[in-house]
Amino acid sequence: MSTNRGGREIVTLPNLDAVSHEAAERFVSLASAAIGQSGRFTVALAGGSTPERLYKLLAASPYRERVRWNAVHLFFGDERTVPPDDAQSNYRMAKRSLLDAVPEAHVYRMEGEREPHEAAASYDTVLREQFVGQNPPRFDLILLGMGPDGHTASLFPHTDALDVTATFVVANYVAKMDTWRLTLTYPVLNAAAQVLFLVGGADKAPAVREVVQGASNCSEYPSQGVLPSDGTVTFLLDPAAAAQVV
Ligand code: 6PG
Repeated sequence: MSTNRGGREIVTLPNLDAVSHEAAERFVSLASAAIGQSGRFTVALAGGSTPERLYKLLAASPYRERVRWNAVHLFFGDERTVPPDDAQSNYRMAKRSLLDAVPEAHVYRMEGEREPHEAAASYDTVLREQFVGQNPPRFDLILLGMGPDGHTASLFPHTDALDVTATFVVANYVAKMDTWRLTLTYPVLNAAAQVLFLVGGADKAPAVREVVQGASNCSEYPSQGVLPSDGTVTFLLDPAAAAQVV
């Protein structure tokens, strides 16, 4: 079932497997269109656990053969401040589930092992180099997840990164976890042609409700602040995550 709420496409699917297949179909379709139009397909990958199923689908038949991986440029929406071989690394999750299966793709890793502010500045430069003349960079697709607190990428409630507009990437201190994170900022998320949230589980239902139909409150529910000015944002939900959307 698909509806539009305040400029957000809301699609509820039977389960997370169906969410992952829908996301894979959209990935393939968007890739074909982007490569046909500009010769490349630029994607920011989501971290966390939900997208892993999608990445494994894309890494295998039939989806793998439906993408021209040598024209695909894979970036990251955020990263933990850990080395790339750490169990907490978003890069490590993507590498094991997708990147190792598509070596033809161009991959731009956030360097979680570096001093966070240096790593953020370095990735900001990477984006300026890869999206020449685009301020902010316009990704063809940004994949996102959402936490039970409504955070997305590493834009957490009441953190400084929510107010950053001068850079495309920022080091964000998350007090409740006592850790630094690297994250794309709102200007980049909202410049995307297509943003695709993959969200599952009952623990996220309250935040989904607030994001799609609650009062405007991005500092409390940062996912609410993702609303591309010239693009589409779609929430692919399982029934549990969609349960409180009326
Ligand atoms: C991260 C992600 C984060 C994630 C949500 C949902 O680095 O953790 O970027 O925004 O998407 O926390 O995570 P799950 O998919 O594991 O529920």
